[in-house]
Amino acid sequence: MGRAGLKVVIRAYAEADKRETLQIIGKGFTNREASLARYHFGINADKGRKHVWVGLKRFVALVNGRIVGTAGTYRSVYYPKQFMALDWEAVLSEFQGIGIGTLLLNRSIKYAKSKGARWLFVYSTKNAMGFYKKLKFAKSSRTLKPVEDGILYERKIA
Ligand SMILES: CC(C)(COP(=O)(O)OP(=O)(O)OC[C@H]1O[C@@H](n2cnc3c(N)ncnc32)[C@H](O)[C@@H]1OP(=O)(O)O)[C@@H](O)C(=O)NCCC(=O)NCCS
Repeated sequence: MGRAGLKVVIRAYAEADKRETLQIIGKGFTNREASLARYHFGINADKGRKHVWVGLKRFVALVNGRIVGTAGTYRSVYYPKQFMALDWEAVLSEFQGIGIGTLLLNRSIKYAKSKGARWLFVYSTKNAMGFYKKLKFAKSSRTLKPVEDGILYERKIA
């Protein structure tokens, strides 16, 4: 049970969730960011290419069977094994502030740990920096390749 008395289910993303998930990302981010997200989904689907982003794993949050939030994890081929990053986290505005972003983050951390990661990174938008600070992330002084939009935050997870 999430805060505000809503039953929130977190489960793995499936191909059938693509349209709804991209809509949520489209609402949470700028047009430029949302178009990058669509590109990432494309890379994930195209198994024939040499990927820079590997090990993508996405989760969705459901309330009454409707997808209301999403987050994923990935690593770039340039990262050391113990690094993973958070990929496109967003919650529909009418469901924000009741703990769903935290549930998605905690599930992503659990998954990253199960893959041997000890640090989780996020290129945070300006708006979300307060959220990640609250969730024990701190500004990172590292350079992670490839450099992405946003401000790099890191959290030790193991
Ligand atoms: C960032 C985001 C995913 C957070 O999701 P959420 O479901 O609202 O987060 P939670 O309800 O779990 O919030 C946990 C705590 O952080 C706080 N918080 C949430 N967003 C915040 C923000 N932008 N700034 C400061 N604090 C924030 C909440 O108030 C809550 O505090 P509390 O525990 O004291 O009540 C959501 O605001 C969002 O989709 N933003 C737009 C997309 C985006 O910028 N994503 C970041 C990608 S880098």
